[in-house]
Amino acid sequence: MHKHFAVVGHPIEHSRSPELHHAFAKKMGLELSYQRRLAPLDGFQANIQAFFQAGGHGLNVTVPFKEQAFGLCDTLTTRAKIAKAVNTLWMENGQLYGDNTDGQGLVDAIQSLGWSLTKSKILILGAGGATRGVIYPLAQAGASQIVIANRTLERAQQLVEDLSEFVPNTGLTAISLDALHGNFDLIINATSASLSGDALTLPHTLQFKYAYEMAYGKPSSFLQQAEQRQVPYSDGFGMLVGQAIEAFYIWNGVKPQLNEFLD
Ligand code: ATR
Repeated sequence: MHKHFAVVGHPIEHSRSPELHHAFAKKMGLELSYQRRLAPLDGFQANIQAFFQAGGHGLNVTVPFKEQAFGLCDTLTTRAKIAKAVNTLWMENGQLYGDNTDGQGLVDAIQSLGWSLTKSKILILGAGGATRGVIYPLAQAGASQIVIANRTLERAQQLVEDLSEFVPNTGLTAISLDALHGNFDLIINATSASLSGDALTLPHTLQFKYAYEMAYGKPSSFLQQAEQRQVPYSDGFGMLVGQAIEAFYIWNGVKPQLNEFLD
């Protein structure tokens, strides 16, 4: 009998996870089903309990439930504990396990572009949950410096305070989004500005070799500026594929190649 998977969120109709997981399964010669689940905003816990009680094997969790999923797990991976958010759930010996594959998905996507993270100097725009989830994996992948720039400086400073102990070999600092300057290997947009259509202005006192936008499927002023500067850039579709591959690997024990699923 084949295994059942799903992604749960609110809203959920635009999720591309089912098509990705079905494509991975086809490539790896596995049979599985993977569906979308719309949970009511006040009904996440009941929704996932019903899924596992019905014999479901694994769940992905998306907006706005990742923090709630974190709070419900019996056992968490290190990277999920640091992220304080969970996007991948499964049951083992009657216990609910949680992991967060978003950060590794970003690392895999960046590396598959041929952009090296070894000893890299990285600037991340934004200090919300998206940023929190990727600092530790970027540090593990070899970043030597990470600067977090945020509109609300205090939020970036709080992240530095929370996360520094987990990234002892990476210099982690905070600056205000108004004070962008310096030379970086990579700049990552982890703000939700592009989702709301707001423009982010990158001043000429700021230089970078590569630009990565975590969002995908929408025009991004951030990526337009990278293009104008003739800097190699990417939107976040590779990260979406990367996090899905990591979840697929946890559940099924086999790992598809990211580059084969980027179209
Ligand atoms: P997520 O979980 O996606 O990171 P979040 O926690 O709501 O979402 O964080 C959104 C991030 O985008 C924050 O860093 C926010 O800046 P503030 O902390 O100052 O609110 C940033 N952001 C959203 N809209 C922005 C805009 N128009 N310009 C600059 N930063 C913006």
